[in-house]
Amino acid sequence: MDITYLTEKFYEKYGNRNNKPVLFFSPGRVNLIGEHTDYNGGFVFPCALNYGTYLLIRKINGNILKLSTANFNEDVETEINGLFSNSGQKWINYPLGVINEFLKRGIKTGGLEFLYYGDVPNGAGLSSSASIEMVTAVALNDFFNAGFSALELVKMSQKAENEFVGMNCGIMDQFAVGFGKKDHAIFLNCDTLSFEHVPIILKDYYLIITNTNKRRGLTDSKYNERRGECDKAVELLQAYKPIRNLSELYTGEISLLEKYIKDPVVRKRATHVISENGRVVEAVKVLKNNDIIRFGELMNLSHDSLKNDYEVTGFELDTLVYEGRKLPGVIGTRMTGAGFGGCTVSIVRKTDSAKFMSDLSAIYQKTTNLVPDFYQPEIGEGARRIG
Ligand code: GLA
Repeated sequence: MDITYLTEKFYEKYGNRNNKPVLFFSPGRVNLIGEHTDYNGGFVFPCALNYGTYLLIRKINGNILKLSTANFNEDVETEINGLFSNSGQKWINYPLGVINEFLKRGIKTGGLEFLYYGDVPNGAGLSSSASIEMVTAVALNDFFNAGFSALELVKMSQKAENEFVGMNCGIMDQFAVGFGKKDHAIFLNCDTLSFEHVPIILKDYYLIITNTNKRRGLTDSKYNERRGECDKAVELLQAYKPIRNLSELYTGEISLLEKYIKDPVVRKRATHVISENGRVVEAVKVLKNNDIIRFGELMNLSHDSLKNDYEVTGFELDTLVYEGRKLPGVIGTRMTGAGFGGCTVSIVRKTDSAKFMSDLSAIYQKTTNLVPDFYQPEIGEGARRIG
């Protein structure tokens, strides 16, 4: 990112070169394994990316918030006059939702000018929204000496997304973005929020993200439908054990589901969550033993389960994954994020990576009429002040 260019844009927009804005950055994230487990109290294994959201911000006199983005033309000016309410589907809801969380906790922000710039593709399942939320939260926390811990900022951002934006997500994205560490993934227990940074050493392999570039129209409603099905499974399983969430069951108990859950759809959803938790635990273990091949196999199994049991993949993601697996040097490939579109994440031998991208691109275009994008990310640090 060219910071000089962004600063210039800031001055063009807001003037007054004598009052220098401060720069913050928050990454996007990619989840390596552990999908649709976070809101079920389970395990996830995401890492922060070197792509994300930059925010230049400065205080001004008065009571006006000016929010703008260098990505597209959609500026907003609004007076702080009590709590904000949702302003439709605009990007502006992410920062406003976070600002609200600060206001609710008695932090008076006063006048501010914001300029955002994101280089993580939005709507691609790489948490561009959590990235905007967390960059805002970290900036306000710093600017107003609010003294919230990183975990509180993560929870405030999740609340902004749940209550203000209206997307009932779990905690994974905001946590990954907040607690990212260079060259490490985060092994997080979403029930207790205890976590461990695990080094990602891929040696002869690259992490490659492929964007389906399919618009994820139905994601939110399907996401909520899955959450409802999981709640239903928990309710039915009370006849077996007094559990709070599906992650209290072990893979050895999957065979018992048939007895308690008669609806095959609800049973499949529970099967995915329980088996996925098992895969995350094994994935972390094999990674610590440098067994990248098995790690890749577990990624493949995760996708199969998301396709067959959780049913959140779809034609485009499946095309990338199942065609990708046929190519040389691909040891693991799966969808990442909520699904229904968005991205896949793959582990590909370095020497085969160029061919992987060109061959997969050709097959995907022929099959779907869509052009995919490829990213070779680095694993970066979490949200922070950078200048
Ligand atoms: C989205 C949500 C996360 C998580 C994933 C699926 O990214 O924001 O909380 O549920 O989907 O694993």
